[in-house]
Amino acid sequence: MMFLVHQELMQQVKVPDYTASERQSVFHQAVADEKLYGGAAGGGKTAAIVAESVTLALEYPGIPVNLFRRTIPELNKTIKAELVKQCHAYMKAGHLIWHGQSNGEYEGRSYVFDNGSCITLNYLDNESDMYRYQGAEMPVIGVDELTQFPLAWIEYLITRNRTSNPDWPVLFMSGTNPGGIGHGWVKNRFIDAAPPEKVFEVRLPDGETKTRVFIPAKLDDHPDERFRRDYNKQLQSISDPSLRRALRFGDWDVFAGQVFTEFSRHLHVVEPFFIPNHWRKWRSMDYGNKNSVLWYAQDPASERTYVYREYRTENYVPISGKSQTINDLEAGESIAYGLADPSIWNGSANHNDKEGKTIAQMFDDEGVQWQPAINDRVAGLAMVHHMLGIADNGLPRLQIFSSCVSLIKTLPSLPYDKHRTDDVDTEADDHDYDSLRYGVMKFRTNGKPTIKQAAWVQRVKQRNGRIT
Ligand SMILES: Nc1ncnc2c1ncn2[C@@H]1O[C@H](COP(=O)(O)OP(=O)(O)OP(=O)(O)O)[C@@H](O)[C@H]1O
Ligand SMILES: [Mg+2]
Repeated sequence: MMFLVHQELMQQVKVPDYTASERQSVFHQAVADEKLYGGAAGGGKTAAIVAESVTLALEYPGIPVNLFRRTIPELNKTIKAELVKQCHAYMKAGHLIWHGQSNGEYEGRSYVFDNGSCITLNYLDNESDMYRYQGAEMPVIGVDELTQFPLAWIEYLITRNRTSNPDWPVLFMSGTNPGGIGHGWVKNRFIDAAPPEKVFEVRLPDGETKTRVFIPAKLDDHPDERFRRDYNKQLQSISDPSLRRALRFGDWDVFAGQVFTEFSRHLHVVEPFFIPNHWRKWRSMDYGNKNSVLWYAQDPASERTYVYREYRTENYVPISGKSQTINDLEAGESIAYGLADPSIWNGSANHNDKEGKTIAQMFDDEGVQWQPAINDRVAGLAMVHHMLGIADNGLPRLQIFSSCVSLIKTLPSLPYDKHRTDDVDTEADDHDYDSLRYGVMKFRTNGKPTIKQAAWVQRVKQRNGRIT
């Protein structure tokens, strides 16, 4: 019953300075517990969420509407700006008042309507922010840029999506572009589950059901021709073809084969900074003509790991040359250990020199020591995902200095193996990834080397004392 009221209401969205486009109307009139307006950039997603919020606020006196982005600057730039745009005249007439400061009754950043309804702009940028909303009843939740959020945070928010007022609707609405750390779960929850625009039912563990719907957004649906033309130009100038297609056409599949859909420049790449001497440093290597050496440093306070340097070769360089470069780059540094592709200890012909030395011994002769990395591909992949994931403090466990251009280029575009979905495609440029996998797999043993590795380190220490 409640939903019928909602659908009729949404046929005549009455926001002072907003007229829904055809596609936005489809979104407004879609009736489901959870709805997603997703796809191309510039399709009017943010505007639609704001317009629906205002309509509900006007229709249901006293209703609290909670809108979310990760940060306050993002809220101000998008949702707040859109709200002001749509309700300018209404605000001028004093029907809508901004409470920027917490005033007890309403938390800060609320727009209060003269019928008692209120739209609150909320940030949710780490796990501890989540608990700010503990105990709150939120009949209407709107999340913009849904793929920027981990699933667990949204699931928590949805536990707040309820009301004890029988006259109010309960609704979770969201908008987003494809890509971002939540791409996988959002695609799974809304896009892969049913054809677009079809409301579908999901059964919850207790037997209850919930409805969801995905409404695709297209830039071409934007009502203003000039806006379409200008925005199109901006999107066409994106150099990464996958990102361009995802943002221009709202194509959810361009990232489908990618392994690290959670990778985001914004979250995982940082400008280089000075690393304090007391931080632990180590390195890793994937050996070959396309040789990849990565260096890591761990902040003991936050336990965040930084990949702070890379040395990548594209063609054959003799081991003496590689060693020379590694030694030069490490001058004055204390590197705790190096983890390398275990095959460099193999005695296979192509890994040996004429005197029968292994690659590892040849590096050793040049003053660069390695110990065998854990080479469990599936566990290694899980560990890289874990490290790219968000820690309790809201930032990824692993960040990469922007100077590591090869790793930043190759990691996000790595596809899955076509035959084994639990591994990356080894025909792709996976050298930096393999090196990274070796480098982070030390965490599987809580930072302690395995027995085999420990014995090896001891031997090297005794030999030349270089590794500390
Ligand atoms: N129905 C409409 N009538 C007039 N202007 C609109 C309408 N819908 C959106 N706009 C305007 O078009 C611009 C883009 O809309 P909006 O920001 O909602 O798009 P978006 O899909 O959220 O884009 P992005 O992907 O960049 O976040 C904004 O300036 C917005 O105010
Ligand atoms: Mg938007």
